[in-house]
Amino acid sequence: MNRVIQIRMSDAVVWAVSLLFAFGLLLNEAVAETRLPAAANDKWKAECGSCHIAYAPALLPAAAWRRVMAGLDRHFGTDASLDAASAAEIGAFLERNAASGKRAADTGALRITESRWFLRQHDEVRASAWKNPKVRTAANCSACHSGAERGDFDEDHVRIPR
Ligand code: HEC
Ligand code: HEC
Repeated sequence: MNRVIQIRMSDAVVWAVSLLFAFGLLLNEAVAETRLPAAANDKWKAECGSCHIAYAPALLPAAAWRRVMAGLDRHFGTDASLDAASAAEIGAFLERNAASGKRAADTGALRITESRWFLRQHDEVRASAWKNPKVRTAANCSACHSGAERGDFDEDHVRIPR
């Protein structure tokens, strides 16, 4: 083998390794996007999971959770008040595990479903899909994401009901 080809071969190896590395990073990013960190708190599960799924803390920035927790007596048309100790424990848990990255951009929205990242992720969902009686509301994540309760929003597990 002549010297020039040898040099090209080692270049190719360096390129292949770099590409694999970059691909690994991309893959990691994609997984982080759709599998939310598994954070759990018994009180949160029980109190915030009785009327709808217990929305994963990573779905809203800390400031939005603070607003949600401050207005539980007028919670989206219902009264979800808690005793002060429970509210403090749940609030601290939500803020500690709140959204980071893209989802952390606080747009002032109280709802997950009105945040900019949510609207962007769902811009291909047809308007009629949200109105399907099996869905009713965008807040009903588990109607389409079977793993929503576990924080699994992997696109491979999405199924829009007909
Ligand atoms: C008494 C019932 C009830 C309880 C308890 C309750 N919620 Fe809700 N929550 C609702 C209703 C009703 C809505 C509005 C759902 C809709 O628009 O379809 C809602 C909506 C939400 C939303 C906005 C969903 C969206 O559209 O993005 C968040 C966030 C939320 N709740 C957090 C919590 C947290 C945190 C707790 C626990 C501290 C909690 N909820 C406890 C009834 C409840
Ligand atoms: C009407 C069905 C429907 C409902 C309800 C719904 N989603 Fe989705 N969601 C989808 C579809 C469809 C996609 C796009 C999947 C894709 O990229 O192919 C999606 C994508 C996502 C993604 C990005 C997944 C990825 O792999 O990029 C996240 C995160 C997500 N949804 C979270 C939520 C949350 C949180 C809720 C409830 C507050 C919710 N969704 C409610 C249908 C729904």
